[in-house]
Amino acid sequence: MSIVEEIKELKKQRNAVILAHYYVADEVQAIADYIGDSYYLAKVAKGLQEDTIVFAGVNFMGESAKILNPGKTVLMPDITADCPMAHMATAERIAQVRAQYEDVAVVCYVNSVASLKEHSDVIVTSANAMKIVKALPNKNIFFIPDENLGRYIASEVPEKNFIFNDGYCPIHKAISAKQVLDAKAKHKGALVLVHPESIPEVVELADYVGSTSGIIDFATASDATEFIIVTERGVLYELRCKNPDKKFYSVSDSQICADMKKVTLEKIRDCMKDNTGVIEVEDELRKKALIPLERMLELAK
Ligand code: 13P
Ligand code: SF4
Repeated sequence: MSIVEEIKELKKQRNAVILAHYYVADEVQAIADYIGDSYYLAKVAKGLQEDTIVFAGVNFMGESAKILNPGKTVLMPDITADCPMAHMATAERIAQVRAQYEDVAVVCYVNSVASLKEHSDVIVTSANAMKIVKALPNKNIFFIPDENLGRYIASEVPEKNFIFNDGYCPIHKAISAKQVLDAKAKHKGALVLVHPESIPEVVELADYVGSTSGIIDFATASDATEFIIVTERGVLYELRCKNPDKKFYSVSDSQICADMKKVTLEKIRDCMKDNTGVIEVEDELRKKALIPLERMLELAK
């Protein structure tokens, strides 16, 4: 039996479903039941019928799925696949900012551990942050953990006062404006599509700024035929599947999230076979973290 057949068989036995983020390896995206950006995957995770969710992504994604589905088994094929940015804020700093500002909302990017979510007022993803921040009644916004996404949203919502936190995605931070300019010089006329985790100097060069799904949808709907993709290279798989006649270029070889790439077909098979990588969230923490997650799903509708 091939590994793909083994996975199909185990899925049947366990009544399991596989969710995958666009940054995981191509062969993993190819066998997933649902592929998407963080917002899409959170929405999907909430309405699933299956007993077991296998999350092909990084830990905060599986943790969010568990928070939304306490009665289901959530499995991570590699429990060490973690997003460094998810840890780049502290409850102490949140408490400080709350004490300093009267009318403040703590807006927490979904790329965060549950112990940060529990102290936040609302969760956002790159696909819905703008809409949610605009809808909040608060004048002051403490945006955690990603400074770059926070600065991008702030530039689009000038009526609010933002307080930033110094978290970042190492993969997006490593992409420089020079690399993007070099790619533009090499591929004249290609449109530049940028994820907002990128540094402001790179965002400034964009023809379009958006989440991974936003980038894929934009390129698919566009009449243009060549695009420079400024995010993790995993999105190239879906871009090329949907647009076989268009050309997509990356700007550097370092556009790879090593944690996302830890997920392999073998590990997907093994976690279902051996029931490993089980995500547990302690009940008190789960209930507190659920509040801002559900608020996101409501406000983003
Ligand atoms: P989105 O897929 O929501 O754009 O997020 C990017 C990301 O870094 C996920 O880890
Ligand atoms: Fe985290 Fe960046 Fe990897 Fe996304 S690409 S999981 S933000 S390290």
